[in-house]
Amino acid sequence: MSLKLEKIRVNLQGNEILHNINLNVEKGEFISLLGPSGCGKSTLLKSIAGLNDLEEGKIILFGEEIQDIVPEKRGTVIVFQDLRLFPHLSVEKNISFSMDLKKVPKKQQKEIVKKLLKDVQLEGFENRRIREMSGGQLQRVALARALASNPKILLLDEPFSGLDEKLREEMGKLVKKLQRENKMTMILVTHDKKEALQLSDKIALMLHGDIIQYDTPYNMYRYPVSMEVADYFGRNNYLSGVVKDKIFKNEYFETKCDLNDGNYKAMIRSSSILINEEKDDFKIKNIVYLGDFVEIILGNNKKEILVKSSSDILNSDKFKINNKVGINIKEDEICYFEDCKEVCL
Ligand SMILES: Nc1ncnc2c1ncn2[C@@H]1O[C@H](COP(=O)(O)OP(=O)(O)O)[C@@H](O)[C@H]1O
Ligand SMILES: [Mg+2]
Repeated sequence: MSLKLEKIRVNLQGNEILHNINLNVEKGEFISLLGPSGCGKSTLLKSIAGLNDLEEGKIILFGEEIQDIVPEKRGTVIVFQDLRLFPHLSVEKNISFSMDLKKVPKKQQKEIVKKLLKDVQLEGFENRRIREMSGGQLQRVALARALASNPKILLLDEPFSGLDEKLREEMGKLVKKLQRENKMTMILVTHDKKEALQLSDKIALMLHGDIIQYDTPYNMYRYPVSMEVADYFGRNNYLSGVVKDKIFKNEYFETKCDLNDGNYKAMIRSSSILINEEKDDFKIKNIVYLGDFVEIILGNNKKEILVKSSSDILNSDKFKINNKVGINIKEDEICYFEDCKEVCL
């Protein structure tokens, strides 16, 4: 185990921000803390690094309790979105700053800086001034500086969110490559679900100061523990129905399932629905063209359904606004949530 958080509670200015956080991170894992703005991601990251005091709980890093150790002696490093580089110093001086403090011999420092600059694809940039660099290059310097202090765990607080999409993806790939090559343990804070799904070994989904689900990206998307988790990954369709004798039934479809009798909501992702042009349960109300795919709103007097489909569906003559179509559901992709309301069929 690399990092273990036990019952972490954090108050800031009299408000309880983190309630009861538990988390286990294995050595060499890439973890994302994912969640909407204000849910407590940065607070948790800063608490691990010692920048917030705990009200209660333990932080165990490689077997050592560190919650009472000062930040600079914890073996943690945070890279923030604003990077906090020293603008008046060269790239080399920025990167070797922590090694200077540790009195690493100058010759060795130079060698390490050279290697790190190669790793972050900035070979030969030693003497460049910080103010003479682009946003993407600054990110790389900040990353190299963080790695230079050889942390036990690297903490990244949305460092890429100010970059354009292409650069953000490039930086994500670079970080992941460095993490794999060096078997580093990393925690990335992000509100970008795509970034979290692409990069993480596991995602900790945070809402309102708690971790709601901690799982692999696949499980998080495929088996969300609640509707809140499901909806964090996109707009979904919910169809209420009744299970009796292992059959889920509602007015649009019925399917086998492994649930006890009762009322349920079937959560169906927009990509789990196929348009059936032979049926006429719904009218096509809107079509939003998004390049590779289209989002289609179907509706009748009771229900609206969102369907995500490959754009080639637009080639069909029948596929026009106000025409009537039906739906087929990829039944093995449905998630069921218990529903306390009575369902009328
Ligand atoms: N220094 C602080 N003092 C008081 N409240 C804070 C402080 N920092 C953050 N908060 C509050 O804590 C909550 C979580 O903030 P934060 O951890 O920054 O969220 P996130 O990083 O998920 O966007 C927010 O309600 C925020 O207003
Ligand atoms: Mg934050």
